[in-house]
Amino acid sequence: MRDPSKRVIVALDNMSYAEAIAMAQLLQAEVAGVKIGLERLYAEGVSATMDSLACLPGPEMVPVFADFKPYDIANTVSKAMKNLARLGPQIINVPCLGGRKMLMAARKAVDDVWENDRYNFGLTRKPLLVGVTILTSLGFEDLREIGLITTEGYAAVEGITPEIAQAKTVRNLVVKLALLAKSCGLDGAVAGAHEALSIHAACGSSFKIITPGIRLAGAAADDQVRIATPSEAIAAGADYLVIGRPITEAKDPLATLQLINQQVAEALAQQQEGVARYARKS
Ligand code: C5P
Repeated sequence: MRDPSKRVIVALDNMSYAEAIAMAQLLQAEVAGVKIGLERLYAEGVSATMDSLACLPGPEMVPVFADFKPYDIANTVSKAMKNLARLGPQIINVPCLGGRKMLMAARKAVDDVWENDRYNFGLTRKPLLVGVTILTSLGFEDLREIGLITTEGYAAVEGITPEIAQAKTVRNLVVKLALLAKSCGLDGAVAGAHEALSIHAACGSSFKIITPGIRLAGAAADDQVRIATPSEAIAAGADYLVIGRPITEAKDPLATLQLINQQVAEALAQQQEGVARYARKS
C-alpha cells in the first residue's frame, strides 16, 4: 500500500457504479485503498470496475480490496482466486469458515498467479490474502443461533458481566479462526477492532489486521454490532480500517475522511510515543 499513514479503506457500497467511481476519484488521495464487494460484483462485474478504477486520473493507481468472501469447495475457490488475482487487486479475502483445505487452496492459487502469471497480466505487487474471521455484523446471539458458539462456551465467570463474558467468547472464536488463517499461510485477517490486540498477540505483529465495523464516536451503528471508533481500532493495532457508510453517506465525504485521518494520525502518534517510552525504560 502507498503512504503508510493512510489506513482507511473506503467501502464503495450502497451506490451506483457511476457514484462509486466518482467517490473513488474524490477520495483517492486520502485513502489506503477502496473496497469493492458483492454489490459491484453482481452488477458491473469485477473486471469492469477494476478497469474504471485503474483509469482514474491521479499520480498513483488507487489500491483495490476485492471483498468477495468466496465460500465454496477448495477446487472452485482455487480457480476463482486465480481469476481474481490476475485482475490485480491488492487485497483479496476468503472466509476462514471455509476451513483449512479451502484456505490452503486460496493461498496456493494466489502464489501460483504471482509466480507464473504476473508478467502476462502486468501485476506489480503481490496481493495480501486475508481470512475473514467473523463478520462484524454478528454478535454472540447470532453466533449461538448458527451453532458457532455453544451455550457451554459462555462461562459467566465471577466478577465479570455477561456482556464481557460474551465478548470474550466471541473474541476467542475470532482468534481461533485467525490462527487457522495464519497456519494456512494467509497474510492477515478481517476482524472486529476489539479482537485486534488478541489476534496480534496470537499471530504476531506482522500478521495484518483489517477492521470493519468502524463508527465515529456517538454515530449510528447501522447493521454493525462489534463496532469501534477509528482511534480505538488503531490503538488496538488495526493495520487498515474498512469504512463505508460513515464516509460515503456523510454530507461531505471528503471532509469526514479527513477528520477520520486526523484521528488515525493522532492515535498512531500516541502509539509511537508509547513504543518510544517503553524503549527508553527497558
Ligand atoms: O458501511 P460500513 O462501514 O458498515 O461497511 C463495512 C464494510 O465492511 C461492508 O462493505 C461490509 O461488507 C464489510 N465487512 C464487514 N465485516 C466483515 C467483513 C467485511 O462489515 N467481517
